Order: sequence, then C-alpha cells, then structure tokens
Amino acid sequence: MNPRTDGRGRVCPRAAFVVAAALVAGGCAWDGPMSTVVARSDLNRSILHVYGIITWATLIIGLVVFTVLAVVLLRFRALPGDTTLPTQIRGHTAMEIGWTIAPALILLVIAIPTIQVIFRTQSAAAPRNALEVSVRGWQWWWEFRYPKLDVVTANELHLPLNRPVVFAMEGPDVIHSFWVPQLGGKRDVVPGRLNRITLTPEHAGEYWGQCAEFCGASHANMQLRVIVEEPAAFDRWVAAQKAPPPEPAGDAVQGKDVFARNACVGCHTIRGVSAGTLGPDLTHFGGRALFGAGLWPTNPENVAAWVKDPPALKPGAKMPNLHLSDADARAVAAYLVGLK
Ligand code: CUA
Repeated sequence: MNPRTDGRGRVCPRAAFVVAAALVAGGCAWDGPMSTVVARSDLNRSILHVYGIITWATLIIGLVVFTVLAVVLLRFRALPGDTTLPTQIRGHTAMEIGWTIAPALILLVIAIPTIQVIFRTQSAAAPRNALEVSVRGWQWWWEFRYPKLDVVTANELHLPLNRPVVFAMEGPDVIHSFWVPQLGGKRDVVPGRLNRITLTPEHAGEYWGQCAEFCGASHANMQLRVIVEEPAAFDRWVAAQKAPPPEPAGDAVQGKDVFARNACVGCHTIRGVSAGTLGPDLTHFGGRALFGAGLWPTNPENVAAWVKDPPALKPGAKMPNLHLSDADARAVAAYLVGLK
C-alpha cells in the first residue's frame, strides 16, 4: 500500500494514520492461536472470569472518573475576566472517608476471586486420576516426560480430553516460562524449583504455546504444540511412543550408521541406539509434525538442512555443526524422518 502524497512528495498525515490504524487493527484477532480470551480448559475459564471482573471494574471506574472530570472542566472552567477562586475545601471528613473506603471495596471485589483462583490452581494435591507430565525447559526446546507411562517426547505434547493433568516444571539451565494461552496462564520454569499447573483440557484440538520468559538468543524460537485428543486416540499415541523405533530401510540404513558413529549419540536418545540426555529424545522424531521447537515441518529436506548446520538456522543452537557431508546429512534426515 502506498499512502497518498500531498502532491509535493510528502506523505499526507491523515492517509498515513488510516494505513497505520488498519495495520494495527489487522494484527488483532479474537480467536488467533495465541489468543488469551479463548478458554479451552477449566483453568483458563477461571482466569477469564477474574479477567472479566477486573475489566468491568476498570470500565466503571473509568466512566465515573471521566464523567466527574468532564463536569469539573465544564462547570468550573475560568471565564474571561473572572479572577475569583472557586470555594476551597480542606479537611472534608466525609469525602476523606469516602475516597478511602471506595478503593478498598474495589480492591476487595478484585482480590477475593483472584485469591480463590490462585489457590484453586496452585493446590499441591492433584486430583487422583490426574495425568502427570514433567515439563523441562531447555535452551531452546521443551522436554515432556510422562513418568507413569514411561514416555518421553519433545515440543509436542499430547493430552487426553477431559482428564486433569498436572504439569510439574523445572529447568536444567536458565529460567523459561511455559505458556499455552488457550489452556492456561503462564508459569515460570525455574532451575532448582518445582512449579506446578493443574488443569483439565475441555476441547479437543491443537494449541500453540511459547516460552514467555526471555532465555537467550532463540527465546522467540522456543515454541510448543499441545494436541488434545479423545482418550482412545491418546492411548494409541502412548502405545506408539512405547513401541521400539522402526528399523531403517534404504538410505536410512546409512543414516543410522552416521548417527551412531558421530557425536549425535552423546546428546540424543534413540532407544536401542543411544542414550544421550542433553537434546530431545529422537526415538519417535518422525512422528512429530514439526521440529526445532515448532519451527519447521518435519520432512527430509528441512531435517537435512538442520543437521548440516543447526546454529545457522537457529541462533545460539546448542547442537553444533558436525560438518557432515551433504550425502551424510541426507541419510541422517532419511533415518530420523522414518522414526515414526
Ligand atoms: Cu525459553 Cu524463553
């Protein structure tokens, strides 16, 4: 779009304003993937309830304040030639009491539901049938462990519909923040400290999340996806995760060999092949739709480009450039993508 000029080559301020307003408004979406006003869990419904109370309270306070301000401006404005001061009020006991009590009441109205929601969502005792998920934030990816199910995955979290889930969060390196806006508020993942969120997903679907605490060069590239599905579909996913990785065929045979001979094994686990713990578990890497913490679709071209030179694609990436040949990178990609 080209804002209209005034004939002398200068941008017309009104046209520029309209274009800017259209761009700003275009960035707003009620139901975008990172919308905080779409509640898809009990936790988010509670948060939205408090949010509603605070919004209404603020709106009413704003209306009262601006009405009083308008009346004062109009009624008591200085008239030309008028030099007398309006009546000055000092030490008006009723007014003093009024404007002390009114804010206290407003704070009370906001505090009671807020504290109730905080206690409800922070309670240490989880519901008995709750699914446990341990969340670890790494620079710059997410590790998800299901301790009772003996399943480990990365960046893509599967949850059964309508079953409470307890996230237990801790971090091995720096502070991150786990945030899936449509499922609940963000909570920090802090080294040496265990934080929890308990929630029940109430709608099947795919939800986006993002690290919400600045954690270094690729903070913005630390995304996650949550797939909420029917319990039967979740059980099938768990069974697939527990199965051993498929044996490679074709190009992938050489890929497995390259993987096993190189430093890959020091950081990654592929069950039956390696047992590294510094990078994502790759046992079922090919079954995840995206890789690199939500950055690229998992396909042979993208994965080959990634293993060739990770820091070039993701600033600060801890996975080094191993100087693999193009053929080796393609073979490793074929192997990894085949690990469904
Ligand atoms: Cu992790 Cu920001």
